[in-house]
Amino acid sequence: MKFNLTDVQSLIRERRSVRPEQFKARKVHRDQLEALIEAGNWAPTHGHTEPWRFKVFTEKALESLQEKLAEAYQRSSTEPNFLQSKYERIRNRHTCASAAILVYMKRQTSGKIPEVEELLAVGCAVQNMSLVATSYGLSLFWATGSAVYDAQFAAEMNIQAPDRILGVMYPGYPEGDWPEGKRQFWMTKVEWFTD
Ligand SMILES: Cc1cc2nc3c(=O)[nH]c(=O)nc-3n(C[C@H](O)[C@H](O)[C@H](O)COP(=O)(O)O)c2cc1C
Repeated sequence: MKFNLTDVQSLIRERRSVRPEQFKARKVHRDQLEALIEAGNWAPTHGHTEPWRFKVFTEKALESLQEKLAEAYQRSSTEPNFLQSKYERIRNRHTCASAAILVYMKRQTSGKIPEVEELLAVGCAVQNMSLVATSYGLSLFWATGSAVYDAQFAAEMNIQAPDRILGVMYPGYPEGDWPEGKRQFWMTKVEWFTD
């Protein structure tokens, strides 16, 4: 056996989503971001379309991204769903996280592979990234919501349909103890068949 099963199982179980507002003020370095993306690039891919794409934002570009996301949130959430506190949280996220990775799907031009399979492949890429993040002691927070799916925001990011933004990922070191995960028992989700 090439890999230690217990280590792999622990890595999978311990991957956690922690909000950037609960990150330590500790920078995530360029080589770490590169390792996350390289891991993402090893995701499975039907028809070798490799549909995952990334835009990485740090420093001033990150602040500007958050400004655009906050505007997108305002635009896309109608009263009474709009929350000023959420707007502020999005707007100020660059003060909590040192980087953001926008993840999107580059749709195969021929459309031969069904879109759902390209979406799934990008999801696999995100999981690879999250596991490598965990091995660094990082959480990789996956943010979606109406802002991320806003059409004007996509245009500002220079992403045109049928390509689709699937989230903005924030890597960071959680403050305090590494959080415990919670899942319903896996056996409740499986049916076995023998004949
Ligand atoms: C497709 C996808 C989108 C997500 N979007 C959000 C989000 O917008 N906000 C959020 O708080 N968590 C988001 N999450 C993370 C979940 O909240 C998180 O996985 C869940 O709470 C379980 O926690 P764990 O990842 O630490 O096990 C998203 C997860 C997935 C798979």
